[in-house]
Amino acid sequence: MSYNLLKGKRGIIFGALDENSIAWKTAERVHEEGGKFVLTNAPIALRMGTLTALGEKTNSEIIPADATSIEDLENLVEKAQEILGGKLDFVLHSIGMSVNVRKGNHYTNMNYDFTTKGWDISAVSFHKTMQVLYKKDAMNEWGSIVALTYMAAQRVFPDYNDMADNKAYLESIARSFGYFFGTEKKVRVNTISQSPTPTTAGQGVKGFDGFIAYADKMSPLGNATALECADYTVSLFSDLTKKVTLQNLFNDGGFSNMGVSQQVMETFMKDQE
Ligand code: NAI
Repeated sequence: MSYNLLKGKRGIIFGALDENSIAWKTAERVHEEGGKFVLTNAPIALRMGTLTALGEKTNSEIIPADATSIEDLENLVEKAQEILGGKLDFVLHSIGMSVNVRKGNHYTNMNYDFTTKGWDISAVSFHKTMQVLYKKDAMNEWGSIVALTYMAAQRVFPDYNDMADNKAYLESIARSFGYFFGTEKKVRVNTISQSPTPTTAGQGVKGFDGFIAYADKMSPLGNATALECADYTVSLFSDLTKKVTLQNLFNDGGFSNMGVSQQVMETFMKDQE
């Protein structure tokens, strides 16, 4: 169902890797709602070639950018405005990667070069993106910037490893930069804290199948899908949420406020029999 919520709006969508990606679903939904955008991803991710299909489907150009490189981000923001014909109304940061997780390093046995690299990609890149947008005055008034996060920023999920720390940092950047973007440019900045979702990044987490099943059983409404995350993002890009800013918004079927659910209790009791 389309409501034309983003008609006339322009933006940048980071992080669509394949059709499971949350950013991929978001691009499809933004397109359906009338928004125009440029797609971007790290040059190495673009080599897979899958993004071309999304570009064609949504009539969007693709500009490579490593989100840790200021030079790449400056080029992206300039080109996006040229291509789209003006300042931007929305930006989605949908980027995450932990080198320690990839290499199988336990949280208690980190390689700090990997820690720094993962932190730069997963958290500082959000600051870099906003700083480039801010300095270039590239956002329209009442624009909206969203980044994706996970509840391991607040609570312990042992296998989430250093991504938990990266997400805590990312959420803090949203508040801190959101203050300046709000007061000086009337732009809102929020994070969406999403349920575990079967994507490339999600499945990189050790024990992901158990993790996603547990979250589903704990949540009164069940896990939120990638498409449901895309819908929520569309609402945050639209004019219907103009005064929502500096928030970490849970799109998780209620998981974050649960103690225990009947379903989880029953599974646990079965194990006791
Ligand atoms: P994904 O693997 O499809 O997307 C991650 C993206 O980050 C990829 O497109 C990848 O190419 C991009 N990326 C990595 N390094 C980059 C760099 N240097 N420059 C630019 N882009 C780079 O996975 P997913 O799940 O769609 O991830 C999107 C966001 O959602 C991430 O921030 C992730 O942490 C977050 N999230 C995911 C959850 C899940 O269970 N899948 C749950 C909660 C949040």
